[in-house]
Amino acid sequence: MSEIKRGLEGVVVDETKVSKVMPEINSLVYRGYPVQDLADNYTFEEVAYLLWKGELPSESELRDFQELEKEHRKLSPELQACLKLFPKNAHPMDAVRTGVSLLGLEDPTATDHSPEANFLKSVKLMAKIPAIVASYARLRKGKEPLKARKDISFSQNFFHMYFGEVPDAKIVKAFDASMILYAEHGFNASTFTSRVVTSTTSDLYSAITAAIGALKGPLHGGANEEVMHTLKEVGTKENASAWLEKALKEKRKIMGFGHRVYKKGDSRAPTMNKYGLQLAEITGNRKWHDISEVLEKEMIAKKNIYPNLDFPAGPVYHLMDFETDMFTPFFVMSRITGWTAHCMEQIANNRLIRPLCLYTGQGERAVPKK
Ligand code: SDX
Repeated sequence: MSEIKRGLEGVVVDETKVSKVMPEINSLVYRGYPVQDLADNYTFEEVAYLLWKGELPSESELRDFQELEKEHRKLSPELQACLKLFPKNAHPMDAVRTGVSLLGLEDPTATDHSPEANFLKSVKLMAKIPAIVASYARLRKGKEPLKARKDISFSQNFFHMYFGEVPDAKIVKAFDASMILYAEHGFNASTFTSRVVTSTTSDLYSAITAAIGALKGPLHGGANEEVMHTLKEVGTKENASAWLEKALKEKRKIMGFGHRVYKKGDSRAPTMNKYGLQLAEITGNRKWHDISEVLEKEMIAKKNIYPNLDFPAGPVYHLMDFETDMFTPFFVMSRITGWTAHCMEQIANNRLIRPLCLYTGQGERAVPKK
């Protein structure tokens, strides 16, 4: 019986060709390309293609891929009707999880594990999840959902469906960059969840529904929403130091800080920070950036714990006027690409995932005579 590694900490359970997380040099590559260079120079559509196909698309491949994604942005009338029945006070992550589950109900190819069928289902999920997110965001405020447009990019269309208009190109670029930065990160909890479900040869929608459940947790994807709650609780940069002192004394986990793999800072955070600063300039609102700077400096000084991607991502989405409880669904809209890339990799060379456990309960004993 091998030594127990709780949380599978430091345990290598399989290989992958999708991405490489390199904490020793604080770097992350998607199919070999540094993520910060992809975020600055490519679109989320190009990165989705890269994660799924292993190579960046040629001009004609990109054109065809964009057409395919646009073609699938529409939700079925049945799904639109179901969304109208969702409770208005549900958590948006529960709405997204349920919406994805409904997509599985209506897809006749759900259990077709062929690479072609799984690729098309992955594109459908990428194309439709933003419509589920934006529709729920509007319905819960008593507004009618807006139909997807086919003449604009993935990120432009999301702003259109959410707010009814497309903002300044710099704001769209910051959102698109966040989609690239959130897209993929090795065997994190939600990706591993999707691989476990896939390893039983269950279907892609079941794997993604399970992954959304895992991502919702504040220790994982739910942190970006919690970061905004923290910044609002701190209130001002003058209060940040005292707030942190008290929080650490109360043994609180400071949301947006720390990471199971990165121990000297999350390779994606500086890039998200850069776009966050741009947004602070564009909106003239440096408040959240200033509070964040104090918290970051003091967390490193006091605990040697660094911010992860969620720390700068929270205020970026806030400055784009999105409601705070919508932040983690944005993580889903992005990570659907990494999750499905891993599911396709798992099914292509599958081995049922089934670890052992050490029994420490009661010794064997006879049942009492009745
Ligand atoms: C994501 O895995 C991925 O790749 C995930 C992700 C992705 O892209 O998929 O990067 C996305 O999930 C990022 C993480 C978002 N979560 C948070 O920001 C929540 C706050 N962070 C912590 O809960 C924590 O840092 C974890 C869960 C992220 C990682 O924790 P570990 O590796 O399990 O480390 P640990 O909890 O054992 O902490 C070690 C020590 C502890 O102190 P002691 O009990 O030993 O005295 O560091 C302390 C912890 O208390 N610590 C923190 C802290 N993180 C660790 N103390 C205060 N605040 C924190 N945020």
